[in-house]
Amino acid sequence: MLPDHLPRIEHPPVRLRAFEPRDAGLVVSVAGDPLIPLITTVPSSGSPADVQAYLERQHDRLPAGQGYSFAIADAATDEAVGQIGLWTSEIAAGRATTGYWIGGAHRRRGHAGAALAALTDWAFSLPEVERLQLHVEPWNEASWRAAERCGYQREGLLRSWQRVGAERRDMYVYSMVRQWDP
Ligand SMILES: CC(C)(COP(=O)(O)OP(=O)(O)OC[C@H]1O[C@@H](n2cnc3c(N)ncnc32)[C@H](O)[C@@H]1OP(=O)(O)O)[C@@H](O)C(=O)NCCC(=O)NCCS
Repeated sequence: MLPDHLPRIEHPPVRLRAFEPRDAGLVVSVAGDPLIPLITTVPSSGSPADVQAYLERQHDRLPAGQGYSFAIADAATDEAVGQIGLWTSEIAAGRATTGYWIGGAHRRRGHAGAALAALTDWAFSLPEVERLQLHVEPWNEASWRAAERCGYQREGLLRSWQRVGAERRDMYVYSMVRQWDP
């Protein structure tokens, strides 16, 4: 059985924890990002009501059976710097998916790589997870470098995989699998 609560995962320099009302400023800060509102439910309005609804939705993911949505926090200050999820809708087949974002002011400091390493270690501590996958556009070098740094392997290019805004986009699929990878 998958855990019925969101754990707190200490993995310096980051901590993965539940979102809290004090994290609203981070969500506001990414409302105008060119990509994040297109691939997540972060509201492009940035309005207080929409941001509060976003924070509440993150707590609904687990009881709804969708998975685990973590705030990525700086381990030293506990300030939220981003979000990472473990999505489990295909867990009956042994598959889980991850995705993540980091606020613009906090990028290029290793937060995505550290958060993905923390999430990956925890996910493979769950016997149900046999394969962990993520999808990333070819231009998004920061994201696929973070994945490769953690040991994910690029398996191929999925053509026209997903609508992002007005266009369908190709995506690399990356994975880590329990039997073969470190
Ligand atoms: C992609 C994203 C999560 C990266 O977050 P980050 O905290 O800046 O990433 P890190 O600092 O951990 O860097 C990861 C790797 O990418 C490299 N990198 C960081 N920014 C880069 C950039 N703009 N161009 C190329 N490489 C970059 C880093 O040097 C590091 O490589 P290394 O491990 O080989 O040294 C962040 O840019 C983001 O949130 N973008 C918008 C949302 C998004 O793209 N989400 C992922 C969807 S698949």
